[in-house]
Amino acid sequence: MNAPFSTLVSQERSLLSNRVCMIVGGASLRGIGYATARLFAQHGAKIAVADIAIDDAATTEIRMGIAQDIGRDTDIIGIKCDIQNRHDCDRAVSDVLRQFDTLDCLVNCAGIVRSQPMLSISEADYDLVLDVNLKGTFNICKSALSVFKKKGAGAIVNLASVAAQRGGGLVGGAHYAASKGGVISLTRTIAREFGPLGIRANVVCPSMIETAMLDGNLSPEKFSEIVASVPLKRAGHPSDVAGVCLFLASELSAYVTGATIDVNGGSHIH
Ligand SMILES: NC(=O)c1ccc[n+]([C@@H]2O[C@H](COP(=O)([O-])OP(=O)(O)OC[C@H]3O[C@@H](n4cnc5c(N)ncnc54)[C@H](O)[C@@H]3O)[C@@H](O)[C@H]2O)c1
Repeated sequence: MNAPFSTLVSQERSLLSNRVCMIVGGASLRGIGYATARLFAQHGAKIAVADIAIDDAATTEIRMGIAQDIGRDTDIIGIKCDIQNRHDCDRAVSDVLRQFDTLDCLVNCAGIVRSQPMLSISEADYDLVLDVNLKGTFNICKSALSVFKKKGAGAIVNLASVAAQRGGGLVGGAHYAASKGGVISLTRTIAREFGPLGIRANVVCPSMIETAMLDGNLSPEKFSEIVASVPLKRAGHPSDVAGVCLFLASELSAYVTGATIDVNGGSHIH
């Protein structure tokens, strides 16, 4: 159901009031997923953070960190889930339903990067990057879509990368760029297939965002070189990406599906 614009404006800071949002890959406190969980909580969402690297202690840390940042307690649960594993994804979605009764939105920020030249990428490297980034996205989307299909509503936001659009060359190798190209194609296909059922799916392509993903993958010299070439003259912050995820998860983007939104400071204008 679309909210009229006046309602959206009067609901400032409440764009996701009582919406149940599953943020996958949100356990890193410096990451895009965590920034998204925090912004969604600020906008009234109930949050499930699913991640391969989450436990009770990490969940408490996330809950306390977000409460401190937004100035109030929020419904937040943590779910351990390896998106490479189909059953983990189904179980994670079941956990969300058990806790919150429904699921309105999936944001998939889980991913890994490997900086390797093409000829040094082993079969095992290739399989790992494709399994997490592409098969994992397929798995978690499939689990969420089974709920969205029954509801006749739902929004998916998948994280790809500028690497898919420009042909790598920044942080990730050929396997990373290819996996993210697959995420774009997968998301577009979901948008086309599930649009008639009231389900939207969009993809976000960040460029260089200052998160733990850059640690050890980018020398300070290369980082400065890239920043110098960005029209907005800085690297991205996780909150820059979170803002676009909020737009795509909320009714502000009610007529947007199958879209690829760049968050790259103008570094790739196409
Ligand atoms: N940081 C950047 O410069 C950048 C640029 C372009 C795209 N991206 C994409 O944005 C997304 C978020 O990146 P980030 O920078 O916040 O990374 P990050 O490393 O900070 O966070 C990624 C999260 O994914 C989780 N994860 C990894 N493998 C998983 C698995 N198998 N199952 C479940 N969770 C798993 C990690 O534990 C981590 O919490 C990724 O898809 C990444 O490829 C990042």
